Amino acid sequence: MAVDDMPRAGGQARCPGTNWDDLMAAESRTPPDFLVKDAYEYMGSAPLAAARYTSPEFFARERAAMWPNVWQFAAREEEMPEPGDVVLYENAGRSYLVTRQPDGSVRAFHNVCLHRGRKLRLDSGWSKEFKCPFHGFTWNTDGSLKDIPCRWDFGHLSDSSMQLPEAQIGRWGGYIFLKEAEGGPTLEEYLAPLPEHFKRWKHEDCYTAVWVGKVIRANWKATAEAFMEAWHSVITHPQILPFTGDANTRYNVYGDHVNVALTPFAVLSPHLDQAAHSQQWIIDEFLKYNGRAGGADLKVEVPEGASARAHMAAVNRERYTQNTGHDHSHATDAELLDAFTYNVFPNFAPWGGFMPNIVYRWRPWPDQDSTLMEVRLLMRAPPGAPKPKPAPMNFLADDQPWTAATELGALGHIFEQDMANLPFVQDGLKASKNGEVHLGDYQEIRIRHFHRTLDRYLERFG
Ligand code: FES
Ligand SMILES: [Fe+2]
Repeated sequence: MAVDDMPRAGGQARCPGTNWDDLMAAESRTPPDFLVKDAYEYMGSAPLAAARYTSPEFFARERAAMWPNVWQFAAREEEMPEPGDVVLYENAGRSYLVTRQPDGSVRAFHNVCLHRGRKLRLDSGWSKEFKCPFHGFTWNTDGSLKDIPCRWDFGHLSDSSMQLPEAQIGRWGGYIFLKEAEGGPTLEEYLAPLPEHFKRWKHEDCYTAVWVGKVIRANWKATAEAFMEAWHSVITHPQILPFTGDANTRYNVYGDHVNVALTPFAVLSPHLDQAAHSQQWIIDEFLKYNGRAGGADLKVEVPEGASARAHMAAVNRERYTQNTGHDHSHATDAELLDAFTYNVFPNFAPWGGFMPNIVYRWRPWPDQDSTLMEVRLLMRAPPGAPKPKPAPMNFLADDQPWTAATELGALGHIFEQDMANLPFVQDGLKASKNGEVHLGDYQEIRIRHFHRTLDRYLERFG
């Protein structure tokens, strides 16, 4: 049958082979409903315009209508534990000083001197006040005016008019979010149903153990979208197919802001011959990528008649309990093995499941052609122990590959494979003759969902 004659599936087609429902039915523990329930929604098959990724005008619309109205992940709590601690957060033409207050609350001030506009700070750190390095206008860490040198010349400025402008702050799961515009949904409303799902995984008990950033020469959306589907694995990451159910991934969407890819590990890819490989081979290959439990020297033998997935889950349940001191007897196999890649619109992606949890963030850096991509690994502090100091960001230079960040372990090689595509995606989108981008109805639904929400913001606030 010619491709043009194939029936239009309207999002109903699925890759043959072991699907997510089969894996849930084979679980050793009762999975929570949100892991079982299909939340896919067909959203049409129309192409996207390539200009969404390349046009300065489109970028300006995002800047004006989208970014001020979304909740943005600005910092982790552990980056700023003490009163006076400040995280400098910059994105889409704005600069903020996210500041810990004496009562433990957090406020975010625009990092711009109200005299003649110099940025007040250029880095994160601790401060007893914000003193402008140009003429010395000074603010307290609650944003109130402290001092104007030669005040006699500024009789027209009142203390109240000199209060630093402020963004909204929301906090959840150890993450601090800010929103520039007033009003709109609360953070809890915006994130729903994600906090309900993450109650099991408690990111508030975790800390940033690894943090790596690098500027990618591609649009921020194109870069984020490289992490929204698993099916590029067959070409981009062929070495993980022995233990990755890439094309059997479940894709769920929730409301406007949240979606997830549930990618099973410790199963053979449906692209491989199922009869040709042993269960032991699946585990041996998985362990080259730590088997999600860590420990390069780990040897795991699959008992006669057992499946790689069930056995590796049992091993991880034991190891996670030993390594962290937290009981994992209730944890499903999927939560101990798989990639639950959640996305919160527009640029925040925390992995669910039990740790180690990857967290991605993407920011235009500074325009439509470049992105600051950050990868964190969260680890859980042992029960009763204080959280270790978080890792600072290892900001890779342009000529450093992701493998130079040895703290990422085997992940560095995978990120390098992902990033190798992206500058050529950006170049190709600019060179496109038909100006169109096509998406799979099912496996790329998260990308379509993302653009549908983006359009809603551009229409509503543009
Ligand atoms: S610009 Fe800040 S004190 Fe003059
Ligand atoms: Fe990838």
